[in-house]
Amino acid sequence: MPLFAAVSPYGLRDFVEEELIALDVKVVKKEERAIYFQSNWLKAYEYNYTSRFASRVLYSFLDFAAYNEEDLYFNTKKHDFAKYIGCDQTFKVDAKVFHGTTFRDQRFVALKVKDAIADQFKEKFSSRPNVDTENPDMSVHVRVYKNQISLSLDLSGKALHERSYKKRLGEAPLKENLAASLLRFANWSPEQPLVDPMCGGGTILIEAARWAAQIPAGHLRDFAFQRWKNYQQPEWEKRKAEIDANINTDVELSLWGADISGQVLENAKQNAKRAGVAELIHWQVQDVEKMDLPHSNATIISNPPYAKRIGDKSELKALYKNLAAALKAKGTWDLWLLSGDAELSKELRLKAKQKIPLKNGNIDCRLLNYPVNQPS
Ligand SMILES: C[S@@+](CC[C@H](N)C(=O)[O-])C[C@H]1O[C@@H](n2cnc3c(N)ncnc32)[C@H](O)[C@@H]1O
Repeated sequence: MPLFAAVSPYGLRDFVEEELIALDVKVVKKEERAIYFQSNWLKAYEYNYTSRFASRVLYSFLDFAAYNEEDLYFNTKKHDFAKYIGCDQTFKVDAKVFHGTTFRDQRFVALKVKDAIADQFKEKFSSRPNVDTENPDMSVHVRVYKNQISLSLDLSGKALHERSYKKRLGEAPLKENLAASLLRFANWSPEQPLVDPMCGGGTILIEAARWAAQIPAGHLRDFAFQRWKNYQQPEWEKRKAEIDANINTDVELSLWGADISGQVLENAKQNAKRAGVAELIHWQVQDVEKMDLPHSNATIISNPPYAKRIGDKSELKALYKNLAAALKAKGTWDLWLLSGDAELSKELRLKAKQKIPLKNGNIDCRLLNYPVNQPS
C-alpha cells in the first residue's frame, strides 16, 4: 500500500489526524508537522481535494541511508521517475537537511538528486524533462535526517490553503486552513450564529459557509497529481462526482461579516461569490466600536488588526478596549480572537478561558477565548 504524508500547519495536527481517520485510512506515524498514512491513490487524491486543514500531501516513495554523494546519486537514480512524468514535462527538487552528518548543504543535496533524475531520463530516452522552479509538473522533496534520505513527491502543487476563491487584495488575509481551524477550535456548528466584525477578505465566514454547504476545500482548483502519468483519472472523476453530489448551498445559516472599509468589504463579497457562497453571508460596513449586532447571542470569531502588520499601536489599543465595551454592553457572546500582540489583547480587560498557540504566517499568535456576559 503506498505511503503518504499529510503536512500540517503549526498547531493543526490533531485536526489533520481527525480528517484522516474520518477518511478511513491507516495512520502509521505522527511527526510534529506531518502525519503518515497508508492508503490507495484514490483516497490520497480525496484527501487533497477535501482537507480543510492540511498544507499539502506528499507521496513518500523512497528511503535509504547515504554516507557519500555516490550513495545519494545512485540510490535516487534506481527509482523509475518516468512512471510519473515524461521528457516533455518539468520538475524541481527541494531539499531540507536536519542534523546533517555527511550532507549539510541542502543546495548540494537538491542538485545531486536533480542530476540523478535528469541523467536517468537522458540514459533511457536521450532527452530529459526541464527544471521549472515556479510551476513544475513534479516536485520532489528530499529530507535528510542524519544519514537517512527520504524522497517524496508533492501531490498538491500549490499549497492546499490556496482554494482559488481569493484575490489577494485584502489587508493581512488569513490562510484559509488557519481560518477553518478557528471555527473548529471554537467548536462552531452551522446552527450557531457567527459574526466576524473585522472580517477583511471574509476568510473565516467563507470557510464557515463552504464547510456548512459541504463544498470541498479544493473544489475550484487542480492538483499536481493530475499531471502525472500514473494519475487514475476516470476513477478519480467518478469519486469526485460522488463527493460533489453532497454540495448543498440551500442551508440555513446566520453568518454576518463587517469591516470599517467599504473597499475591503467589496473584496470580501467578490471572494464569497467566487467561493460559491455569496447568498449565505450578510455583509455590512461598520466600525466595530459602534457595533450593532443583529444577534444577542452568537459566536464571534475574528482576527483584528495587530500592530505587527497594520495599524498604529495606540489607536489599536482603543479599538480593543472599545470592542470589549461594545460586547459587554449587551448580549451574550462566545468571543474568539486571533491575536498577535499580548499588549493589545490586555486592553480587552477580559479573562481568557483558553489561549491556543498558533502561527499566522511567521507571526506567533494566540487564539483567545472569552465568554462575554455568559452565566458562570
Ligand atoms: C487582520 S484584518 C482581517 C483579515 C481577515 N481575517 C481576512 O482573512 O481577510 C483586520 C481587518 O479589520 C478591519 N478594521 C480595522 N479597524 C476596524 C474597525 N474599527 N472596525 C471594523 N473593522 C476594522 C480592517 O479594515 C481589516 O480588514
